[in-house]
Amino acid sequence: MASVAKSRPKQIKVKPLASLAAWKQLKSHAKEMAGVHLRDLFADDPQRGERLTAEGAGLFLDYSKNRVKDETLRILLALAEESKLREHTEAMFSGEKINITEKRAVLHVALRAPKGQSIVVDGEDVVPKVHEVLDRMAAFCDRVRSGEWKGFTDKPIKNVVNIGIGGSDLGPVMAYEALKHYSKRDLTFRFVSNVDSTDFAEAVQDLDAEETLFIVSSKTFTTLETMTNAHTARTWLLEKLGGHESAIAKHFVAVSTNAAEVTKFGIDTANMFGFWDWVGGRYSMDSAIGLSTMLAIGPENYRAMLGGFHEMDEHFRTAPYEKNLPVLLALLSIWYTDFFDAQTIAILPYEQYLKRFPAYLQQLTMESNGKHVTLKGAEVRYNTSPIYWGEPGTNGQHSFYQLIHQGTRLIPCDFIAFDKSLNPLGRHHDMLIANVFAQAEALAFGKTAEQVKAEGTADWLVPHRVFEGNRPSNVILAEKLTPVVLGKLVALYEHCVFTQGVIWQINSFDQWGVELGKALAQKIIPELENAAEPELHHDSSTNHLIRLYRQKK
Ligand code: F6P
Repeated sequence: MASVAKSRPKQIKVKPLASLAAWKQLKSHAKEMAGVHLRDLFADDPQRGERLTAEGAGLFLDYSKNRVKDETLRILLALAEESKLREHTEAMFSGEKINITEKRAVLHVALRAPKGQSIVVDGEDVVPKVHEVLDRMAAFCDRVRSGEWKGFTDKPIKNVVNIGIGGSDLGPVMAYEALKHYSKRDLTFRFVSNVDSTDFAEAVQDLDAEETLFIVSSKTFTTLETMTNAHTARTWLLEKLGGHESAIAKHFVAVSTNAAEVTKFGIDTANMFGFWDWVGGRYSMDSAIGLSTMLAIGPENYRAMLGGFHEMDEHFRTAPYEKNLPVLLALLSIWYTDFFDAQTIAILPYEQYLKRFPAYLQQLTMESNGKHVTLKGAEVRYNTSPIYWGEPGTNGQHSFYQLIHQGTRLIPCDFIAFDKSLNPLGRHHDMLIANVFAQAEALAFGKTAEQVKAEGTADWLVPHRVFEGNRPSNVILAEKLTPVVLGKLVALYEHCVFTQGVIWQINSFDQWGVELGKALAQKIIPELENAAEPELHHDSSTNHLIRLYRQKK
């Protein structure tokens, strides 16, 4: 756990959100917009589909199918200004300790800063340190990928198993899946995260220990799941390799900020890749936590991905807000969350390689902005992070899209698609993209009772076949899914989350909400394991569950 400041550190002064002029205006403007249909907004402005678009760092955003007028956008942009988004952004980029509850800088942008840029934290330029680690990672990856790095029995590495959880897993898995097209296919990658032993057992059941490298990825190197899995991996390896402790050095490397714990585990710090407390777990996929990604796609592709992140960082930092993709996405999400009572946002990538992208974004968005108090500690009186969820298209169309089209809830959608497929086959890609455009069109414009009747539908069936429309979506387009584009996409959402947090006046960079459950589990573990019947002091339900489990296990 991070050290905690005794008194609340200074913050950029902003009036409480509810008292900002733009917030008040949005409240009354939302009433006006509640009855406005996207059909009318489009009919009134034939250029709308071209006008309400923006391009940044090579990504194209069509936000025309949102329930906004120019006036709405004007007020939302004023909200960003009144919230002092620029000042907050500069504070983050310059290494100020904006994570006030943990007294830490928030500098994932330094992880992709080019050589020569300088970002100073506590009197030290962190950019050279970032590049030093990147160079060490590259040298290591080259050795493993070329077969020069040998296991204990002198065999080259064929399998890489990343052990980590949360930010030390979701980024690596997502990036591996997203960039599989660029990966070295004769290496097998597995990802173990869950403390459920099935996760480990299934990951290694067909692997030859002599050819397997474990990457233990944990910022703190104390996380229950990761350390349990790492010890199990150690035992598994030693059993397979005749119990020689010296095998560990050939088959285990660590990614962590905690050298002492790494050493305690038995991994030589020569085989450790470090990062720093100013990298939040969910913002760490481009730190050394990306070691498995670099092993898969190679150092050159990895650096290209960092370049993509950096391009989006610069876009976010410098583009005017009316053309700023992360800012627009954030403002629109706030519009629906706080003024239309939308509870969720669906992330719908029409790209099979992005199948883990929604899961990745869940931690990024919800661990960051699932907060109920402001930076000043006051209870918020508005909704903060919506629930992010999603599945790749077109699969979702045959399961949950029914609710998005005709259910009773408003679910803004982000469609993500690419001009080109990485695996062009016949007409597949045109069909895929036709579905993206069709879904966004159907959601926005729907189908009226008159249209349904005109198709000859029986009167009694008409209501069932009506699509009310007016359901908002964004379409994000890029040329094709490359390492560069993946970096841009992740940075797009990172800065969207930052912008949301600034406007909601919350700390997007701590995660105290995960602590209580962790602490209680630590208390319950011995109560389940003790041979003697333990004295239980939980509530009656928890006590009963513990007793039942003890009887039956
Ligand atoms: O779930 C809480 C959390 O601290 C996440 O923020 C983090 O990504 C994850 O646990 C893993 O932490 P570590 O990398 O320290 O093992």
